[in-house]
Amino acid sequence: MTASIPIPAASKRALITGITGQDGSYLAELLLSKGYQVHGLIRRASTFNTGRIDHLYQDPHDPDAKLFLHYGDLTDSSRLVTLIEKIHPDEVYHLAAQSHVRVSFDEPEFTGNTTGVGTTRLLEAIRMVGVDCRFYQASSSEMFGATPPPQNEDTPFYPRSPYGAAKVYGYWIARNYREGHGLYAVNGILFNHESPRRGETFVTRKIARAAARIALGLDKDVYLGNLDAVRDWGYAPEYVEGMWRMLQADEPTDYVLATGTAYTVRDFAQFCFDHVNLDWQQYVKFDESYLRPTEVDALIGDATKAESLLAWKPRTLALQLSHVMVDAELNRARKA
Ligand code: NAP
Ligand code: GDD
Repeated sequence: MTASIPIPAASKRALITGITGQDGSYLAELLLSKGYQVHGLIRRASTFNTGRIDHLYQDPHDPDAKLFLHYGDLTDSSRLVTLIEKIHPDEVYHLAAQSHVRVSFDEPEFTGNTTGVGTTRLLEAIRMVGVDCRFYQASSSEMFGATPPPQNEDTPFYPRSPYGAAKVYGYWIARNYREGHGLYAVNGILFNHESPRRGETFVTRKIARAAARIALGLDKDVYLGNLDAVRDWGYAPEYVEGMWRMLQADEPTDYVLATGTAYTVRDFAQFCFDHVNLDWQQYVKFDESYLRPTEVDALIGDATKAESLLAWKPRTLALQLSHVMVDAELNRARKA
């Protein structure tokens, strides 16, 4: 932690909220590789929550250190003001959120407070301090909800979860600071993106992990909910590259990142189990507790705008992604 350590001068400083999450960890790697000084907001927890970024750790006393971590929380506005004042970032990547859709039905108020109003707290901190920075808002395809695919930047929102509703609020508040206060603020409307660093309760990681562990004789089966949901799954490291590109453009605007391909949860299960030569139907069981009160049936994105304005293109599609994830789980399980 860097409570009393003065921050050295640097060519470019970035603040990442949610640096301990899947995307935050890949983005930190990317920005460090580009020579940025990277500051991450982390929450105090009773157990370590920095597993995804431990390999990036640098001693903050080292004069060449480029990564600095700061305790803070999206519900603590005075802390956000203090940090913005101290760091004076050139770019802010706002990734922190209660990001689990199913959990948002259990904790709708908390999700609104962090995922929604947390965005306003951070934007207000930037406005109050008066720092001239660029702001990335982690918007989501979940905002499209019940609006049928294909979905792009002009598609109307119809959120189907407290999480989706909170993200719609975050989207509009970011646009409001762009249009009302002249902030360079961008909404990245990202479709599902996955990796071996995905949280274990999201469906791709859950399936990949189960397939690997069942193949190794460590587990017997896996319980899932709706297998019919259609998602557009991409690879997280490619999506964080898109986030960075959005903040390098001349003008701020909003972009969809997606692969444009569509698979069901059932397809993904088949890909994963096929990869370890097992028949998924023998191992995937149904548990209604994983169903959601309202489901998002189909998300399929159209990323034409990002492709033409940012020269961004996804390379890894669902089948290859499933193999990357299952192989990572096989390695993890063997090491453990
Ligand atoms: P993730 O792995 O769940 O990471 C969420 C991050 O937010 C973690 O670092 C978490 O800290 C932090 N966080 C949660 N509540 C916080 C609070 N109150 N104060 C400070 N930090 C808090 O999410 P992700 O998959 O990397 O996604 C990054 C962002 O993109 C999220 O906003 C998500 O909603 C959005 N998004 C994700 C996808 C996707 O497919 N992955 C698609 C569209 C949009 P802890 O580690 O301490 O829990
Ligand atoms: N998590 C989970 N667990 N989902 C399941 C399960 C299960 O056991 N069984 C079926 N599903 C279905 C869900 O009902 C959903 O339709 C689909 O699998 C994907 O679920 P998640 O992996 O939890 O992702 P998500 O699409 O709800 O939300 C993710 O993507 C959003 C972008 O569209 C999250 O990363 C959000 O933060 C993100 O904004």
